[in-house]
Amino acid sequence: MSLDVDFRFQVPDAQAPGAFAVARDGLVPLSRPIVLVLDRRDPAVAAVLQAVVLPRPERDLLAGIHHAERRAELTARRAALRLAVGATLGLAPPLVPLGRGVAGEPEVTGFALHVSVSSRGHRLAVGLWNQPIGVDVEGPIAEAALPRAMMHEREIALVEAAAVADRPVTAALVWAAKEAAWKAAVMPVSRDPRGFAVGVEADGQVTVEDPGQPAAGGIALWLPEIDGAVAVVVAGVPAVAADGARV
Ligand SMILES: CC(C)(COP(=O)(O)OP(=O)(O)OC[C@H]1O[C@@H](n2cnc3c(N)ncnc32)[C@H](O)[C@@H]1OP(=O)(O)O)[C@@H](O)C(=O)NCCC(=O)NCCS
Repeated sequence: MSLDVDFRFQVPDAQAPGAFAVARDGLVPLSRPIVLVLDRRDPAVAAVLQAVVLPRPERDLLAGIHHAERRAELTARRAALRLAVGATLGLAPPLVPLGRGVAGEPEVTGFALHVSVSSRGHRLAVGLWNQPIGVDVEGPIAEAALPRAMMHEREIALVEAAAVADRPVTAALVWAAKEAAWKAAVMPVSRDPRGFAVGVEADGQVTVEDPGQPAAGGIALWLPEIDGAVAVVVAGVPAVAADGARV
């Protein structure tokens, strides 16, 4: 039993009207979290992302990043976020009212819509939900790259319990779950990440043990489509489904 997520692998049409009738109070009537998963290596995806016009302040900020590939990744991440939110609300990407909270989390101003975005190389993921949501994407994580200093001992044990050949994928699932939990709870940079522990069950169910914090849970899956792990964590006790239905 895992969180029921509407995973979408196709780039949304920026010109299409929004699929949802947004109520006057800004509530977007989603029945389950939507997670858009994209691969920039796909020329069709790259073309749509490149066509997204970002607002001037974002373009200026990105222009200051010297490393070309990093600049391309962060530009695509911003574009994907605007595209996903715009397609949901029926707004052109440059008109999506995006702001930023105190911890650096993205906010959709004026709508009761929570969003989260992540990138790792060619992999992109954007989550949308009417409750706090955290999404993270990771490629395989080699033994030497495992961020042990930021992991709870139970998370390290989970990775080490996997067969050696499976560890890069297990590590990606566990670390993606950790970062998704971090984002869903909008934790400040000052927090010690060893103070909470995530678990990933065989069926992908993510558990979050965080003393004193509200309940949260989610799902972490290895997606061959992007050669990566995607984790989704939502606040509260997640609605679950027995299947991992995708559209
Ligand atoms: C938030 C954080 C975990 C993001 O992870 P990342 O692998 O660097 O980058 P991702 O692509 O997955 O996510 C980046 C996006 O997360 C969002 N974000 C940043 N800080 C956030 C926070 N505190 N809560 C929720 N979302 C946040 C932003 O939208 C950002 O994209 P943008 O800069 O284009 O707007 C990381 O930047 C951070 O805060 N690190 C410091 C603390 C830490 O290391 N904690 C351990 C994590 S368990």
